[in-house]
Amino acid sequence: MMKFTAIANANIALVKYWGKRNKELILPQNSSISVTLDGLNAVTTVEFDDKYDKDIFILNGKEQTENELERVISTLNIVRDLANIQTKAKVSSNNNFPTAAGLASSAAGGAAIALAATKAAGLDFSKEKLSIIARRNSGSASRSVEGGFVEWLKGEKEDGSDSFGKQIAIEDHWPEFRIIATILTTKEKKIKSRVGMAKTVENCPYYKCWLASIDEDLDKVRKGILEKDFTTVGQIAEQNAIKLHALMFTTKPAIIYWLPETLKMVHLIPEWREQGLECYFTIDGGPQVKIICLEKDVEEIKKRLSDINEIKEIHVSKPGSAAKTIEEHLF
Ligand code: DP6
Repeated sequence: MMKFTAIANANIALVKYWGKRNKELILPQNSSISVTLDGLNAVTTVEFDDKYDKDIFILNGKEQTENELERVISTLNIVRDLANIQTKAKVSSNNNFPTAAGLASSAAGGAAIALAATKAAGLDFSKEKLSIIARRNSGSASRSVEGGFVEWLKGEKEDGSDSFGKQIAIEDHWPEFRIIATILTTKEKKIKSRVGMAKTVENCPYYKCWLASIDEDLDKVRKGILEKDFTTVGQIAEQNAIKLHALMFTTKPAIIYWLPETLKMVHLIPEWREQGLECYFTIDGGPQVKIICLEKDVEEIKKRLSDINEIKEIHVSKPGSAAKTIEEHLF
């Protein structure tokens, strides 16, 4: 047995995942498309060793209990089954961005643990298989195993064997593509995506419309990425995010992640567009606004963002690489 460390980047969905058809296996109701984000990552070290009498999980230096620990144990159990071992493990993970504030930290962490744990258990899996393991940690993690632009195929099979992240284009395909993540608050969100999406599937009257319109969004964004058609990708991604939040607003009880500062950005970005600065927004399960733009406009957008007092921090990412193992361990 050995110790392995993996690094995986976060991702931002351009066509969102919202709702499961199987909660146990984390199988989605719809496919989704994301871009892996360079520089926003999780580093995770896993060691299986007889010296541990229980699984331990440390996140950003703090020992975790309850939900966070259970999620890690469930991934370790999947890996132990596959490797046919019973050994307990220590897992330590560090994110370089705020956890649970709508920046898909679970995606980076889920992909990193899938890679580090399988390697530490002596397994050497394809990206497809790793993505399936990551998916069962957190749905969006299935997309962070790959780099560049990725589609998480919803799959048809009951066992989930055809539901994994598949690369649409490598990170160098569209090197000018940028995501500017603006951090408006570092407070943890109140409603976890997992809980919110289950409620939407259960009682949102518009969920059927979402599912009926998703294939068109997927086709346009996939094609737009391949043709580097920025206007199409930006327009569809922004509309898809608005549709997602319309679902959230109309779920009972309502899921409202937007803060006043979120709404301010939602008004500003289309205004900037009218002024000739082509950029679009997207928002996940939190208040942060991510701006989709091209490299040539980053400086101008940053200048404008610096006038908005509510913004605490920004991160500019280009398309990032796939999850990989590294030599430096966290313990
Ligand atoms: C709004 O992947 O965090 O960010 O599968 O329950 O772990 P679980 O949920 P998670 O949900 C992400 C939702 C989203 C949209 C997206 O990333 O596609």
